Amino acid sequence: MFDSMLQGMPLFARKRVEETMDNISVVLKMTNPKVFASMAPSAVRGLVLKQGKSKDHVLMESQHPVHFDLRYTMDFPEMDRLYRRAVDNQWNADRDLDWSIDVDPMNPEKPIISNEFFSQELFEILPVSLNSKQKAELNYNFACWMLSQFMHGEQGALYASAQVTESVQWMQGKFFGATQVMDEARHLEVFNRYLTKKLNKTYQINDNLFVILDNLLMDKRWDFKFLGMQIMVEGLALGAFRTLHNMSQEPLLKELLKLVIRDEARHVHYGVLALRDHFRENLSPAEIREREDWCFEVALLMRNRFLAHEVYEEWFEGMISRKQWNEVMTRSPAMLHFRKTMFDRLIPNLEFIGLLSDRIKPYYEREGLLVFSGGKNASQLSESDMVADLH
Ligand SMILES: [Fe+2]
Ligand SMILES: [Fe+2]
Repeated sequence: MFDSMLQGMPLFARKRVEETMDNISVVLKMTNPKVFASMAPSAVRGLVLKQGKSKDHVLMESQHPVHFDLRYTMDFPEMDRLYRRAVDNQWNADRDLDWSIDVDPMNPEKPIISNEFFSQELFEILPVSLNSKQKAELNYNFACWMLSQFMHGEQGALYASAQVTESVQWMQGKFFGATQVMDEARHLEVFNRYLTKKLNKTYQINDNLFVILDNLLMDKRWDFKFLGMQIMVEGLALGAFRTLHNMSQEPLLKELLKLVIRDEARHVHYGVLALRDHFRENLSPAEIREREDWCFEVALLMRNRFLAHEVYEEWFEGMISRKQWNEVMTRSPAMLHFRKTMFDRLIPNLEFIGLLSDRIKPYYEREGLLVFSGGKNASQLSESDMVADLH
């Protein structure tokens, strides 16, 4: 029915409607009214008004309370150990990375990213055939797109970690938070430097990612910021960084990702430690339900984020429909692997902090994400465990 309505529209209108409906489909399916109410304003700003794409900056107003401690009690030993490890493991992008490496993004011997992201199926449904040079260029563009999204995510992490540092109630949590702010600034620096100095191309922020960042930076409840950034965005990014590291042959990027992964492993660990106790001790069942539902919606938005619509719009809009693109990208073997690595760490973390009850499990099951339950959570994995399976 909807498809036949679209057929009757002029091409430009059809594209706009297809894009908007595709983007807001996740938000329209939300069943928890509280989650819908909290996410709707960000969804309008990101998906309809496209604020992430229309200006050179966006102002996001946050009204979180600053928790000013008057006792200076240092009573969180596990957090203290994490803080000391973070201080010991600070690195310097100038000293610890070899920026003199000459990166040629079109070199087939050292691809930035595996070309398996685009399956044969895509090339078969295109009305034109791409030669090998065009395919290499598409691949290079996809790498720029993905790294750009990492860079935007790091900017969000920089602000979220600063806000959380103000809001958390544990002194040692604030100390750790300060190390994370420094880490995120360095991550933003290295992704930006790699994109602008080595790849010479950046992409704007993906709409789904914008919605999540806008939502958690503006929410005044500190645990939503924490949950959104430390568990959801960073948990998924950690999986994405690991997959990209193992798929890339470019030595500078591999080293850069390895250093970032070590930091991110600590950040996720910090997130699960703080939230487990807070959820267990301070929240009502209704509040837990709201957080569970919110995480599920964010998981869907994050999954959609990796469909690379910005690359589709640049390369294939008008040639194939957005729906066709979504289908081939979803089925591509590399993308399947990519999603698996992202969610196999996230789901155990949600379990550990108590946000994967029997009520919410069927929703994850329906999306094929529950298979990752039962794995190791961030508190059981050290930085060296995280880099052990990098190759
Ligand atoms: Fe980061
Ligand atoms: Fe982080």
